[in-house]
Amino acid sequence: MRGLEEWLPFEDALATAVGRGSPDPTWLAPLLSAEGDDAQRLREAADGVRRRFVGYEVHLRALVEITSYCCRNCMYCGLRRDHTSQPRYRMSPSEVVALARQAASIGYRTVVLQGGEDPCLDRETVARILSDIKASTDLAVTLSLGERSYDTYARWREEGADRYLLRIETTDPALFASVHPDGNLRRRMQCLEDLKRLGYQLGTGVLVGLPGQTALSTADDVIWMRDLGAEMLGVGPFIPNPDTPLADTPGGALDQALNLVAVLRLVFPNAHIPATTALGALDPMGGEKGLKAGANVLMPNLTPRTQRESYALYPGKPIVDITSATCRDAIVARIEAIGRRVAADHGHVHRLTE
Ligand code: 5AD
Ligand code: SF4
Repeated sequence: MRGLEEWLPFEDALATAVGRGSPDPTWLAPLLSAEGDDAQRLREAADGVRRRFVGYEVHLRALVEITSYCCRNCMYCGLRRDHTSQPRYRMSPSEVVALARQAASIGYRTVVLQGGEDPCLDRETVARILSDIKASTDLAVTLSLGERSYDTYARWREEGADRYLLRIETTDPALFASVHPDGNLRRRMQCLEDLKRLGYQLGTGVLVGLPGQTALSTADDVIWMRDLGAEMLGVGPFIPNPDTPLADTPGGALDQALNLVAVLRLVFPNAHIPATTALGALDPMGGEKGLKAGANVLMPNLTPRTQRESYALYPGKPIVDITSATCRDAIVARIEAIGRRVAADHGHVHRLTE
């Protein structure tokens, strides 16, 4: 059992991180738990590394939530199958393709198709959607459709899917089991290995502030994600949802999540790191705070409003209608207001060895 006495003092931990020391809980944990001025210094250091390695550009990814059906029962999520009073929707393939085309015409270079684990959205349905989008736009396509078989991931890759997001959520076996009653940590890890092997640009991430989660456990998550070779890292605070079994737990704090964003930038200098929607749900300036703590990606939500209202993972998800070009302009203005600019290219991951 690693105890508190093995943690480096904050100063030494930050110096090790900035010096690109090999990730180790003795310095990751004190950074993840930083408070006050220390937390501020951590974010500034990460912001400097962000500037040096990925520059001033912010990549916009148009998010389309294509189905709110889910056969899983994650304890924290409003889309869990036992939440039976939740209205559900599933977009038709033509609706998804039309939204992707709209995203392209407004100026987005990437569309992210995200959804619950919906068995009706089967291999060939998604393959058709991919081939239609690829035939009629120049969009990069990111999928985030949960755990699927190797063959399904391979088929989607064949149809041109560029990237895949699948959060590991936590690598702590006991914690993983306690919040995923129908989950299997080994299988989820296998899915990520499969995606990697198939050449997807690979995104994963964790929740911050799950019940019983510690800084040491999050430090282990960071090391695991590094060993995996993740290239995109999406993390956010766990926000208790009143319609789930975890309704009465405290949830994660914005500062804790920002510490992790900063630590990830220090450990993965070239990675794409979004300022996630959950940061914005806890604080109207959460997005900007994320971008100033190491993040370089934003994922504006293009799901039409009526459907967005029933894609309720957690409370407080902003429901601003940003489907139009004017709304994209507003996002661009917010980015420019903090001295950054919107990237014009696809924002593929940087692979040094290719
Ligand atoms: N709070 C914050 N994030 C959540 N997610 C699901 N439920 C919650 C919640 N209550 C996140 C999960 C999932 C992603 C799509 O949404 O991390 O991977
Ligand atoms: Fe389904 Fe994903 Fe929510 Fe789990 S986190 S219940 S898999 S939508």
